[in-house]
Amino acid sequence: MYLTKEEEKILAGEEGEVSQRMFRLLVRLGEIYGADKMIPVGSVQVAGVSYKSIADPGTEFLEDIAKQGLKVKVLTFLNPAGMDLENWGKLGFPKQFAKNQLRIMNAFKQMGIVVTATCTPYLAGNLPRFREHIAWSESSAVSFANSVIGARTNREGGPSALAAALLGRTPNYGFHLWENRQPHYHIKVEADLTFSSDFGALGHYVGKMVKDKTPYFTGIKDADTDQLKTLGAAMAASGAVGLYHVNGLTPEADLIKKENLETITFGKKELKETYEKLNTGKQPDIVILGCPHASLREIAAVAEKLKGKKLKKPLWVCTSRVMKEAADRMGFTQIIEKAGGQIVADTCMVVSPIEDMGYKTTGVNSGKAANYLPGFCKQQVVFADVDSLIEKVTA
Ligand code: F3S
Repeated sequence: MYLTKEEEKILAGEEGEVSQRMFRLLVRLGEIYGADKMIPVGSVQVAGVSYKSIADPGTEFLEDIAKQGLKVKVLTFLNPAGMDLENWGKLGFPKQFAKNQLRIMNAFKQMGIVVTATCTPYLAGNLPRFREHIAWSESSAVSFANSVIGARTNREGGPSALAAALLGRTPNYGFHLWENRQPHYHIKVEADLTFSSDFGALGHYVGKMVKDKTPYFTGIKDADTDQLKTLGAAMAASGAVGLYHVNGLTPEADLIKKENLETITFGKKELKETYEKLNTGKQPDIVILGCPHASLREIAAVAEKLKGKKLKKPLWVCTSRVMKEAADRMGFTQIIEKAGGQIVADTCMVVSPIEDMGYKTTGVNSGKAANYLPGFCKQQVVFADVDSLIEKVTA
């Protein structure tokens, strides 16, 4: 791989031991995947933030880097943490867990990373442009950036994203190259998609079928960015889809080659079967919306549905701190809280320890959450559209 003089110096350790170690990781990755050179990145999103995922070894690793005084070179955001960083006490997060989580946040802050913990950085102040090279980690954010925005990122692991942030570069391979952004499958959508959960079900079905390949969708008549983020999240969870194209809706759909694609049809039958498959529970102990993190539009819609109602079970709407603050100002938080629900910022149902908080069955409208909750959080799942979920927990 070609390295500039400056990069050779980093590799030789002239910018310190941590930079050398981090750069070695990027060079190794580049060699494995056949990168020709390093490219500058416009922004980074780092995963491996929740204490639940990284535990003590990960926390000590981050504290060790922070202690060396190294700062990130580009705008860097974080994936959701294991708890609401401000209201963890009120929401019942365990004290010891909170203590450890705050150590992690402090280490990131010392590195100059923006302590905004969200899987929707594009809604919270980290918005790349079309064709911008970035190094993001969280699978739904990667999918959204590649597909809906047309930015270019591989799905980075926690360490490689941190290395990209500290060095401002990433190896040039995978989705950074146009030839790797071409589709392998044509997904013919014949089912009518109304709710976000329908897009989640479609994504779950397609992800299972295409695994890490790139699908090209036709037949999706319309979808807003919330529905597209739900679709991409589910495909990245049930498969490992990092890029998709939708005829008429996503920016590269007109530019890609569409010859010799294998066709998969998604009709009414597949939609119904996916709902059935994802439902492993009956009555939720808690409903958690906002996977990926809810937009202001989604929060407003939930507030509207809860106006004047009383919940008999907890309901959380997970979102970024930025969206939560806007919801506070608009009075949406107040309406949701009056009904007995909560807007929970900085975290989500999968990376927070809900299994230790007494919950056994969770209601969700997200294909991604439905995919992960049984394994990651030992939950039974009620997968349904938002109206049906609210109905199930309203007195
Ligand atoms: Fe985001 Fe958590 Fe879902 S990270 S995409 S809300 S599982």
